[in-house]
Amino acid sequence: MITTSGLTKVYRSRGREVTALDGVDLHVREGEVYGVIGQSGAGKSSLIRCVNLLERPTSGTVTVAGQDLTALAGRGPRAGKELRRARSRIGMVFQHFNLLSSRTVQDNIELPLEILGKSGKERSRRALELLDLVGLADKAGAYPAQLSGGQKQRVGIARALAGDPKVLLSDEATSALDPETTRSILQLLRDLNRELGLTVLLITHEMDVVKSICDSAALMEMGRIVESGTVGELLATPGSELAAALFPVDGDASGPDRTVVDVTFHGEAATQPVISQLARTYNIDISILGAALDTVGGLQVGRMRIELPGHYEDNVVPIGFLREQGLQVDVVSPETALVKEGAK
Ligand SMILES: Nc1ncnc2c1ncn2[C@@H]1O[C@H](COP(=O)(O)OP(=O)(O)O)[C@@H](O)[C@H]1O
Ligand SMILES: [Mg+2]
Repeated sequence: MITTSGLTKVYRSRGREVTALDGVDLHVREGEVYGVIGQSGAGKSSLIRCVNLLERPTSGTVTVAGQDLTALAGRGPRAGKELRRARSRIGMVFQHFNLLSSRTVQDNIELPLEILGKSGKERSRRALELLDLVGLADKAGAYPAQLSGGQKQRVGIARALAGDPKVLLSDEATSALDPETTRSILQLLRDLNRELGLTVLLITHEMDVVKSICDSAALMEMGRIVESGTVGELLATPGSELAAALFPVDGDASGPDRTVVDVTFHGEAATQPVISQLARTYNIDISILGAALDTVGGLQVGRMRIELPGHYEDNVVPIGFLREQGLQVDVVSPETALVKEGAK
């Protein structure tokens, strides 16, 4: 649904150059919620603004729903009109809502429909329908100043949906909200994704946002995507920084003569009492050093750090048993085994 290829953005101001995007290849599938996470200054906002051509990329291409937007952008006034039309199929939600304070809630939602040249009757019908969809049917005549932050963001979302977009872009939509309101807004985005088949690309600096609603995620650092994949793929990637952040597991693994492994469970396997089966099969005592069980991107995942008795060499068979059960096993200690395993 969204593809960027070799996307580069260099800002030039007062003789200084800042490379905000440095060859970004992004692939967002139709119907998924895709999260881009990264620290302040990583280039997240530049990326999202280049996706709908609010910002002109320095080089590279942006394709949304099969249409190359970068090709549309630079070809005179007619192309400008085509780009505007394409853009109306991309909704955008902002951190600070960007509502017009002099307009009522309904009139804010009608604004993009006015730009699309819809009749008054059509606009009004659509606005009321959207208000209902975001749970604000009783606020049509209110002004933004009379709303809470969460309600303002619901209006922002309704306005973003006015043009019937296939894609919704969200730049830190929940960063100005308290945790409880954040949860309700994320739930709304998830519901819209499911019910309307809306593809959502969201930018955040909060891992919890990715954890609660994303199907896929990418980590940005200094204008580059350094890791990306579905949540399942990331969790199955040994050493993945995103996976570790999505799913931290504590438990001290230091010290000599210890065999410590992290076991990651997905879906079906999570419900099976594999660890006790392991203990029974090999008649060994297993110490659980740390564990976490959670739903990540709608996927049930567990991660457990366990200590097996004896040296690594004594545990090759039990480790093999765990892997045969379809579990991901990362040897944390001894480090020599880590090197050995990494080499295979
Ligand atoms: N309009 C601009 N002019 C000059 N530099 C900019 C502009 N917008 C962003 N930058 C710079 O580009 C880099 C990436 O910024 P941004 O995309 O906003 O990152 P993020 O959203 O991840 O915080 C930063 O170094 C920032 O200072
Ligand atoms: Mg930003």
